[in-house]
Amino acid sequence: MADVVRMGVVGAGSISVRGILPHLSQEDVQDRVRLAAVCDPVPGRAEAAKERFGIERAFTDYADLLAHGDVDAVTIASPIGLHYKQGRMALDAGKHVHFNKTMTTTVAEATDLIETARQKGLKIVASPGEMLRPHNQQIKKLIADGAIGTLCWAACGAAFGTYHEKERVRQGDDVLSNIDPSWYFRKPGGGPLYDMTVYALHALTGILGPAKRVTALSGVRIKEREFRGKMVPCDADDNTLMLLDFGDSLFALVYGTAAGRITEGFGGSYFGTAGSIVGQKLNGEPFDYPGRDLAMQAPQGRGNQWLLPHVVGVHREIEEQHVYEDIMQLIDWIREDKPTIVTAEHARHVIDIIESAYRSAETGRTQELTTTF
Ligand SMILES: NC(=O)c1ccc[n+]([C@@H]2O[C@H](COP(=O)([O-])OP(=O)(O)OC[C@H]3O[C@@H](n4cnc5c(N)ncnc54)[C@H](O)[C@@H]3O)[C@@H](O)[C@H]2O)c1
Repeated sequence: MADVVRMGVVGAGSISVRGILPHLSQEDVQDRVRLAAVCDPVPGRAEAAKERFGIERAFTDYADLLAHGDVDAVTIASPIGLHYKQGRMALDAGKHVHFNKTMTTTVAEATDLIETARQKGLKIVASPGEMLRPHNQQIKKLIADGAIGTLCWAACGAAFGTYHEKERVRQGDDVLSNIDPSWYFRKPGGGPLYDMTVYALHALTGILGPAKRVTALSGVRIKEREFRGKMVPCDADDNTLMLLDFGDSLFALVYGTAAGRITEGFGGSYFGTAGSIVGQKLNGEPFDYPGRDLAMQAPQGRGNQWLLPHVVGVHREIEEQHVYEDIMQLIDWIREDKPTIVTAEHARHVIDIIESAYRSAETGRTQELTTTF
């Protein structure tokens, strides 16, 4: 068993302030992980996070954190367009990496990270770990056991709405509560696919296995958004509809849209010759899964996060429990050599689907997926 893992937090924005830092500063994890350093380029933000969460060091520059933060691992919580470069820098500096979704925006970048980590004997955990959730494992089992007959098609996806403009942590006046979300609407790395549909795609492919081909239409529907009275120009696609081919004429409809949903939650809907699974219902009735009774006791929206293995005690009261869980998957892997199912290879396959969907929309042609997991 290795020592306590010294963690560096890259970016002190919404997910760090609401989730990562409150979880990792709790007493009960100090025997496994220590908040060693935080960095953020916004003047005063990392320092304010350091003070609020008792972090050892604060930096405005990420390269300084890697050089002088005395960290063993980093959790990358910056805008998605920066993840590849920052991940590569961490690996080059000999650090293990947790990526808040999404790990990279291209397969080539993902492959570079996977190979670099392998060469250096470093570990990558790439969120979101949707298959850690028992209800998704149960959907996989129900389908495999023939509960809905021959599966014919599935649907999953997510819509941006105005979630990021309205996050509570962006409405205040101090440096930890006035966090600008504009990058969510801009290239590279913006748009609902990398930020939200990524959960649905991890669940869908976790349940059905890797896909083979994708066809899509995609574009920017909302050209400008308003954040706190200022207009934000949007150039990242916010309206994408795709068709996935899993082989043997099994298909899925996947969406990442500006508004509107046709599925419940991120687990997806599955339609077979003998019935359907929609959200957490089998043929219209809630299906059972390990821990369901406990999940029902949780405040709305948190239920299935309460079933994640590290989400116990005080962690059930803190937001973004699934993010904490994924980080603890990395901590266990480093300390106990206990590998995780939240792999970079699974993340790369989802990135392949998104990148190929955009290419399909640009070219008007179906794209073959080149990755598996
Ligand atoms: N907001 C959510 O609900 C949520 C939930 C789960 C995961 N995530 C993921 O977490 C990541 C961050 O999202 P967020 O909502 O916290 O974004 P955010 O915009 O709220 O915060 C990002 C922070 O990164 C900082 N930053 C910018 N450039 C940087 C750099 N070069 N080095 C270090 N920091 C830099 C910004 O100043 C900002 O403080 C994304 O990958 C997102 O998908 C977000």
